[in-house]
Amino acid sequence: MMKRLSLRICSLFVFCGMFGYLSAQDNLENRIEKMLSKMTLRQKIGQMNQVNARKPDGKLYQQIRNGEVGSILNAEDPVLLNQLQKAAVDSSQLGIPLLFARDVIHGFKTIFPIPLGQAASFNPEIVEEGARVAAVEASENGIRWTFAPMMDISRDPRWGRIAESFGEDTYLSEVMAVAMVKGFQGKDLSDPSSIAACAKHFIGYGAVEGGRDYNISNIPERQLRNVYLPPFERSIQEAGCATIMTSFNSNNGIPPSASKFLLTDLLRKEWKFDGVVVSDWASVSIMVTQGFCEDKKEAAKKAANAGLEIEMVSGCFIDHLEQLVKEGAVSEETINNAVRNILRLKYKLGLFDNPYTDLRPERKIYAAEHLKAAKKAAEESFVLLKNEQDILPLGNDIKTVAVIGPLADAPHDQMGTWCFDGEKEYTQTPLEALKKQFGKNVNFIYEQTLAFSRDKDKTKFPKAIEAALKSDVILLFVGEESILSGEAHSLAGLDLVGAQSELLSELSKTGKPIVTVIMAGRPLTIAKELDLSDAVLYAWHPGTMGGPALAGILFGKSYPSGKLPVTIPRYVGQIPLYYSHEKIGRPAKKNEVLLDDIPSEAKQSSLGNTSYYLDAGFDALFDFGYGLSYTTFEYSDLTLSKDILSKDEVLQVSVALKNTGKREGCEVVQLYTSDIAASIAPLVKELKDFKRVTLKPGEQQVVTFDLPIQKLAFWNYEMKKVVEPGKFDVMVGGNSVDLLTRRFTVK
Ligand code: BGC
Repeated sequence: MMKRLSLRICSLFVFCGMFGYLSAQDNLENRIEKMLSKMTLRQKIGQMNQVNARKPDGKLYQQIRNGEVGSILNAEDPVLLNQLQKAAVDSSQLGIPLLFARDVIHGFKTIFPIPLGQAASFNPEIVEEGARVAAVEASENGIRWTFAPMMDISRDPRWGRIAESFGEDTYLSEVMAVAMVKGFQGKDLSDPSSIAACAKHFIGYGAVEGGRDYNISNIPERQLRNVYLPPFERSIQEAGCATIMTSFNSNNGIPPSASKFLLTDLLRKEWKFDGVVVSDWASVSIMVTQGFCEDKKEAAKKAANAGLEIEMVSGCFIDHLEQLVKEGAVSEETINNAVRNILRLKYKLGLFDNPYTDLRPERKIYAAEHLKAAKKAAEESFVLLKNEQDILPLGNDIKTVAVIGPLADAPHDQMGTWCFDGEKEYTQTPLEALKKQFGKNVNFIYEQTLAFSRDKDKTKFPKAIEAALKSDVILLFVGEESILSGEAHSLAGLDLVGAQSELLSELSKTGKPIVTVIMAGRPLTIAKELDLSDAVLYAWHPGTMGGPALAGILFGKSYPSGKLPVTIPRYVGQIPLYYSHEKIGRPAKKNEVLLDDIPSEAKQSSLGNTSYYLDAGFDALFDFGYGLSYTTFEYSDLTLSKDILSKDEVLQVSVALKNTGKREGCEVVQLYTSDIAASIAPLVKELKDFKRVTLKPGEQQVVTFDLPIQKLAFWNYEMKKVVEPGKFDVMVGGNSVDLLTRRFTVK
């Protein structure tokens, strides 16, 4: 009796809950329809028009009053934003509020490490927290939409935008993208500190030929689905990402801004996306230059019919859509659907109820907790690549340190690319932090030597050498200025620029130990510098708190735990070089014949008969997932809960991890799988899970992963997502190469 009663009460709650939800949902849809019914065609198209307001003028205000602008980018002064908003709310006929957007990529004022650095943490928590901080700070200024995260799988370090990505791996990018979207959007979009996220660039922009920005890509659908799309799909399904941005590159001959397959069939029909699709900057009008459209009118038609909803800055929609509807080339229902989605976003953000930015004087910008989070993120992003004779962390015996190089005290450059609002006055550099934290006991002699990374002037080398000779150790800060990576900053060579490498060579002649810290927006080819240094720490562009984070790590107040989210090649000519490639018939071996091994007048021969370069072999300088710690870890006893499983079971994988060194450390335990044989050539390895585990010296822990067999699914030749029965390897270790392996079978 009791049981039946509680069941009824439960059902009542479920019913009421559902009813409550449905009514809120209905209410929202009713409001949208009501607004839509009042709008003229021109006003509807106005919502699809996004305008650049870097220099707002009378014309812009007039357009807003006419209802011809739906959203604005590149305005961030809250007083100005309120003025523009007032024109929309008070002076346009329907009073539909504007939505203000900006590229808040890795921080607004408090700058976090570049996304590639954040990915190196293998810690989605710091990524989510970083995005939350960015949202809180940006929304203080009235920005409620960011064009981030960028989730392009990036396997070419020549491409400057690799800095904005989470690197080469699909799974790592999925996890980080979901975390970042959650951070930006908070618990509910209507919270004034929430900002709508934007999954970009849809699709394949990271795969542009030759790593040259704005170039074309050719990714077949199966590879799109297996490699490039998963971060987008998960951002929508798991984190409710509110918007998507189409990319500049045409893929397989079609610019994504006009791809019905991408924007309608996949996004709307398959994924049921109910958010908004925005173009990239003028990516509609450039379809004319791409030769895909004869003129801007055709561009507007193709984009709108494919399912693009907001056009960023190039004005094709506002100039031509009305006429196209009149001519019957675009249906009014297409326009209505776009406007429904745009209005839905504005309602969800609470803009109709609360369109203005609060101008109270106390602003949550550079708050202590924001700086603390940025420091933690920077610490976890650093990757220790070499540490001979445990030179790091520097000990109490160190009395004098030569701090040398163009990036030791470069507050602007350490913030990295895509940083519109960060202020160098608030950046804490390594030089400042070293002096502040350790200046009482250690004498720091600073020699910048090169004014910036590209500087070729060697006249200050003697002073650097003099400083080095007086010191116990050299801390050399080299790399790239922030402007050398990011959009439109592709490079054909990845060696250190300017005279940086020569500076290191000269310093090495002093015989003093050298710790090289590299700040860069991408992997650089640093084989030579690696040999000349005793330790190398890859610090990416670490942001506002990069200095204190680095000083603490170098002197052992904290320890490095980052792992490479991207392969570091030895030579540019090896690119593309990434760990998760398809199996090939003749993979390279370890002992390949190289140029110098070939005798003169050698007879025609296929030498090793494997896939490698005579002058570069095959190996990377550092593999995906690599990174040292101040301690050492030992993996043993890889155990599987079962050897034979069905497709809907979960395999438990455990491994014993021991800290075998003398210091506490945090290890990123990585789990990979490999399909032994499949109906399409499988990948050699795929990251499927990872865990950060902190252990005291001597401590041991059994680390367990749950691996649902469904995670082994892939898109097959018939474009179906399947788990194929057969044999698989599961591999666990501290990078993508040194792994323990066990085999299991899927029935
Ligand atoms: C970039 C986008 C960015 C947009 C707006 C474009 O050039 O490709 O990633 O969001 O500009 O600034």
